[in-house]
Amino acid sequence: MGLYYHHSINDGFSRRALIIMRITLLIVIISMIMLSSKFGVGCPVEEYEALLEFKASCNGTSPPSWGKHSDCCLWERVICNNNTKQVSELHLHDLFWSYYPEGNWNLYEAQSWHLNLSIFSSFRELRHLDLSFNPFTGLLSSTTGLKKLKVLDLSDNQLTGEIPTSLGYLTSLEVLNLGLNELNASLSLKALVGLKKLKVLDLSENQFTGEIPMSLGYLTSLEVLNLGLNELNASLSLKALVGLKKLKVLDLSENQFTGENPLSLGYLTSLKVFLSRIEEAKGA
Ligand SMILES: *[C@@H]1O[C@H](CO)[C@@H](O)[C@H](O)[C@H]1NC(C)=O
Ligand SMILES: *[C@@H]1O[C@H](CO)[C@@H](O)[C@H](O)[C@H]1NC(C)=O
Ligand SMILES: *[C@@H]1O[C@H](CO)[C@@H](O)[C@H](O)[C@H]1NC(C)=O
Ligand SMILES: *[C@@H]1O[C@H](CO)[C@@H](O)[C@H](O)[C@H]1NC(C)=O
Ligand SMILES: *[C@@H]1O[C@H](CO)[C@@H](O)[C@H](O)[C@H]1NC(C)=O
Repeated sequence: MGLYYHHSINDGFSRRALIIMRITLLIVIISMIMLSSKFGVGCPVEEYEALLEFKASCNGTSPPSWGKHSDCCLWERVICNNNTKQVSELHLHDLFWSYYPEGNWNLYEAQSWHLNLSIFSSFRELRHLDLSFNPFTGLLSSTTGLKKLKVLDLSDNQLTGEIPTSLGYLTSLEVLNLGLNELNASLSLKALVGLKKLKVLDLSENQFTGEIPMSLGYLTSLEVLNLGLNELNASLSLKALVGLKKLKVLDLSENQFTGENPLSLGYLTSLKVFLSRIEEAKGA
């Protein structure tokens, strides 16, 4: 009995020691993980925090891996630069249908996610930002920073208003897709005149009114311009396009242009494809 008692005390001691050792080890591992993220082994803290702020702005709807690891480079839909560990691509399309619990159309329409593009201004290496096919509502917001952004896709949301001035600061932009929203101002491209690298501009399926603005002529790298399915209602003039020597695809279909069809004027000799049904609108 005595022997048994003695033995059990020893056993208790070693078990306690083992537990303490395990806890210590756990604490060491956890603090190593936390330190490593603070000192730049993972993605920068401000990018990690910005992604959580973005997640909050869409009612928590995000891939399950988000927030589980302190290195946001390990999260789904986030691609980092292998050397600097800064985020270089964010593929945030179709979040509602992919991650909203039992998403259906009634819930989709009840959402009012608000997109504040300023959230992304701390992403200095970001090249590709895809936020398409989500239920973002409200005014199209804007952002500064993002000096390296090449592709901005906000298509298929429910954004309203006009093209904000500060989109013009995204001077590396090559592709800007704002198609299939509810942008409803008189079409002005003044904000974009500094975008000398812009190759693709898609403003289709919105509610832009007015004319094809002369400021379009500053976008000298433009190869594809889609203004189809809007409410452009001035007399159709293509003068703004004369200097666009690289333009290959132009879609002006489904608008409400008035006046003569100016195609006969013979501008636009470089245009290889012309997807326009302006004849239908002529005289409308
Ligand atoms: C970064 O690393 C991943 C995984 O090792 C690799 O698949 C990817 O091609 C690399 N990207 C670049 C730009 O080197
Ligand atoms: C946010 O999502 C939850 C379900 O995940 C839902 O019950 C709630 O109504 C949503 N909030 C808004 C504002 O849509
Ligand atoms: C958007 O985010 C920026 C930075 O996070 C903040 O300063 C600004 O107030 C926000 N704007 C709106 C309308 O919430
Ligand atoms: C654009 O739509 C918004 C939201 O429906 C509305 O508040 C605003 O007055 C509209 N603007 C114009 C110029 O029609
Ligand atoms: C075009 O539509 C806008 C908005 O409905 C209207 O204010 C404007 O007068 C129209 N312009 C022409 C030339 O019809």
